[in-house]
Amino acid sequence: MKKTIAVLPGDGIGPEIVGAAIRVLKSIEKKFNHQFTYINGLIGGVAIDAIDGIDAPFPSETEELCLSSDAILFGAIGDPKYDNDPSAKVRPEQGLLAMRQKLGLYANVRPIQPFNGLLQKSPLKEERVKDVDFVVVRELIGGIYFGKHGRSADGSSAFDILTYTKNQIKNVAQFAFDLAQSRKKHITLVDKANVLETSRLWREVIQEMESNYQDITIEYMFVDNAAMQIIKNPTAFDVLLTENMFGDILSDEASVITGSIGMLPSASIGDKTSVYEPIHGSYPKAAGLNIANPIGTILSAALMLEMSFGLMEEARAIRTAVDYVLSKGLGTKDIVAKNPLSTSQVGEEIASKI
Ligand code: IPM
Ligand code: MG
Repeated sequence: MKKTIAVLPGDGIGPEIVGAAIRVLKSIEKKFNHQFTYINGLIGGVAIDAIDGIDAPFPSETEELCLSSDAILFGAIGDPKYDNDPSAKVRPEQGLLAMRQKLGLYANVRPIQPFNGLLQKSPLKEERVKDVDFVVVRELIGGIYFGKHGRSADGSSAFDILTYTKNQIKNVAQFAFDLAQSRKKHITLVDKANVLETSRLWREVIQEMESNYQDITIEYMFVDNAAMQIIKNPTAFDVLLTENMFGDILSDEASVITGSIGMLPSASIGDKTSVYEPIHGSYPKAAGLNIANPIGTILSAALMLEMSFGLMEEARAIRTAVDYVLSKGLGTKDIVAKNPLSTSQVGEEIASKI
């Protein structure tokens, strides 16, 4: 199979973790006789440094590259030099939001699964997390992130508007229904319907769609309760469907219960193309040190093979190799105390196992 992959390493540790994932993809090409072409593009802080103008965080060349590729492998975004400057006109994160909106990435998918041998890293008791297996499906291009933001004329008040259209809800819900059908057939819709009108619209849309999916059980849960249940009873979830901001918060919470934020992949699905990236950030303190855990990015590459290219066996080969390397006690220093490997060594170990 021939495919073109847009590679957007981004900021901080992005180039290192993406480099390790490409090393692994090259071993897949060789073993399964595929031909992937990798084309690099700029996004985030590195794009702002290189280019002028308001669209610098997600320049139009990068947008064109993404739209002309078969899938996008993305590293991380964010640079602390912008975080404490509220007056900065352009910031790296704008690149991420622009990419989501311009590519129409309506569903963010974050599978939450523990790794054998790493359960002791979880902040929760081992027996509570060992059977966890759920997926957070977060709406990604609507809600408060993309509503009007602003200040009153005298600057003494500010607003961020939360809006949803029925179509936006339908698109992501459709994805969640299909996903649930291939899993344990259970959707938990997380919202704040006791307070928010948008949440009541979500429930209305889900109830309209429900009749087409007789075999799927829908549960409704308020977001405050969901935050608690993810800790108390995480095995109760299968597909957790929610709006943009709640999904942002809950997916970070969910990611740590498996004890391994550096290891979890994600997919952002669009009609035209999709983006694959680890769920962690740009870890600026580790940039250039070759110490960051590349497994989240490597497993994101596996998701890409599966979800964008339909290469199931190849994706499985990556996961098996990751499990093997972990079972040997190999890994970067966030997961291995004695003789940790570097970022590139972990990539090398996984690639050579493949
Ligand atoms: C994420 C991140 C982003 C978000 C930030 C960097 C804008 O936290 O991908 O979850 O809030 O969506
Ligand atoms: Mg987040």
